[in-house]
Amino acid sequence: MEAKLKELQQLAQQEIREAGASEVLEKVRVKYLGKKGELTEVLRGMGSLSAEERPLIGKVANEVRESIEEMLASAKNLIKEKELLARLSSESLDVTMPGKAPAVGKRHPLIQGMDELKEIFIGMGFRVAEGPEVETVYYNFDALNAPPNHPSRDMSDTFYINDNLILRTQTSPVQVRTMEKLKPPIRIISPGRCFRNDTPDATHSPMFHQLEGLVVDKGITLADLKGTLEVFAKHFLGEHTKIKFRPHNFPFTEPSAEVDASCFKCQGEGCSFCKGSGWVEMLGAGMVHPNVLRNCGIDPEVYSGFAFGMGIDRLVMMKYEIDDIRLLFENDMRFINQF
Ligand code: PHE
Repeated sequence: MEAKLKELQQLAQQEIREAGASEVLEKVRVKYLGKKGELTEVLRGMGSLSAEERPLIGKVANEVRESIEEMLASAKNLIKEKELLARLSSESLDVTMPGKAPAVGKRHPLIQGMDELKEIFIGMGFRVAEGPEVETVYYNFDALNAPPNHPSRDMSDTFYINDNLILRTQTSPVQVRTMEKLKPPIRIISPGRCFRNDTPDATHSPMFHQLEGLVVDKGITLADLKGTLEVFAKHFLGEHTKIKFRPHNFPFTEPSAEVDASCFKCQGEGCSFCKGSGWVEMLGAGMVHPNVLRNCGIDPEVYSGFAFGMGIDRLVMMKYEIDDIRLLFENDMRFINQF
């Protein structure tokens, strides 16, 4: 039996020496020292030994086990070292190779335009106010003096969540929310997303952006509105820009106007861009209706105000000569990188 054990030791030593990889070494370990391994197998035969022989053979068996374990351990270290070296050399970096430039994002033209608009108005003393995109019928219509039968309330124009909740169709509800919270003097702009039940085409998108403006104080007149919008138009569209008021109707302003700017491409001469008219439509505006002031707890006998609302998408499209609003929402980097 002692000879058998010595032989096992020899064989194991041989196989350990030849093992070149950790997995192979592990197999060798299991083969000799595992529960069903060869050494265990031999030891199982010890039962048939005499009482004198047993401790002697037991000692040899222990020595063999220890020596196999030692050989395994040192072989394991060697193999690990070899494998590490191999990995290091295979994963080494060639720092002289040309790098891959990470794709850098770009500010969306809409955001660029929005920032420019904000900057102009902040420069005139306006503060930015925000309101929710999911709005109540009260703030979007009722408080803004829209009659119950106003066509914009129709399901075909407005996205209803339920009878009282909608996706806001304009940024004007922020006027009401602001006047409820702040005492005059009030001077705010509110840029944000709006929604209307429109089929997308080159000039319509069910999701678009507006920027609302509101000023309320003692003695605010139409002249203040005109002056403010003129300064804005000159900053945004160019020093020579003129503006023109056309009578219009909004439920929440009286009088109301649509405001045009002289075409910034032909300076008002008439070109294909302005369809020969010399003017481009810029925004809607007017003096805040006394009913709206009253709805917000502001006395129209003491205070007056003006408001305006512009389509940011439209103005950005005009300025950057983008001919399809859908391009703004496709997030194609080839498009966005142009601005
Ligand atoms: N809310 C109006 C619209 O969506 C624009 C507007 C705002 C008009 C403020 C007058 C005053 O068309």
